[in-house]
Amino acid sequence: MVKQPENTDASYNELLKKKILRLKKDRNAVIIAHNYQRDEVQELADITGDSLALSQAAVRTDAKVIIFCGVTFMAETAAILNPDKTVLLPVVEAGCPMADMITAEKLRTMKAEYPDAAVVCYVNSSAKVKAESDICCTSSNAVEIVRSLSGHKKVIFVPDRNLGRYVQTQVPDKQIILWKGFCPTHIRVQEEDILEVRKTYPDVEFIAHPECEPEVLALADHICSTGGMFKYIKQSRSKRFIIGTESGMLYKLKRENPDKEFFLATPHLICPSMKLTTLGWLAHSLENMVYKIEVPDDICSKAKKVLDRMLAVSGEKPMSATVGY
Ligand code: 13P
Ligand code: SF4
Repeated sequence: MVKQPENTDASYNELLKKKILRLKKDRNAVIIAHNYQRDEVQELADITGDSLALSQAAVRTDAKVIIFCGVTFMAETAAILNPDKTVLLPVVEAGCPMADMITAEKLRTMKAEYPDAAVVCYVNSSAKVKAESDICCTSSNAVEIVRSLSGHKKVIFVPDRNLGRYVQTQVPDKQIILWKGFCPTHIRVQEEDILEVRKTYPDVEFIAHPECEPEVLALADHICSTGGMFKYIKQSRSKRFIIGTESGMLYKLKRENPDKEFFLATPHLICPSMKLTTLGWLAHSLENMVYKIEVPDDICSKAKKVLDRMLAVSGEKPMSATVGY
């Protein structure tokens, strides 16, 4: 990869921002950024949100080019949902380690062991894994998706064991068969981190992402996706919150709730892949139209059905949904 010069000078950043906005217009592009992105990237983005909101935004946009500031599976999802658009990922190495913990081949082996189970894949998975699944889910609709599988008692859930375990607590009438994947960032939260803040502020609310470990989730006042956290905190009467998800969330939480105080559960809640995207790489991406995310036709059409089914269950009008499986 081409090494970019480091320059943290504020005036240089202003120039970069202007350049990005000009290129965005010239290219008829939309900048979509996940809630974990760097502050300055979120600030420039047209749309920020959680994985579900960003998939929905990708379907709705009229722009010809989608610049996805996030990780590979997110850009891949946008590409699958928009086969006629150009989808760019500014940093080609920005992968999600959890998504890489399962392959299509391993999933096929698991399916052979449980032939009567439906297969639900978390959106944090490759296009090939999606193509092998029955329906996709995100952290904001996982419970709803598993409940929707009325014809199935057994459900294979890949790759996140923690989200799968959480879904099992909410849908006890089904048997969830877990894969052993996990998020290396979210598992860093420890019970002691929460108990320590609670010692000083007994009234603090702990809001956790379902990718945290079960013993940490057991301490949570509320468990939800990153998008769900904004909604919950806005309407809550509490004044203090421990945030059990990636540090990028603090940017918008603080802006939207200036009267509330936030504690990151641990300073280690930083996803290295999400932080790879900088203004420099964003400008580079728009200028050179890199890195194009393309999914082979056969995989794309199968994975699209799996995503369309999810969007249909979550209330989005699908482009070609078949919700019978
Ligand atoms: P959300 O869909 O809740 O934004 O989560 C995405 C993710 O990668 C969490 O680690
Ligand atoms: Fe993947 Fe975890 Fe980073 Fe989310 S926070 S993108 S699950 S590594």
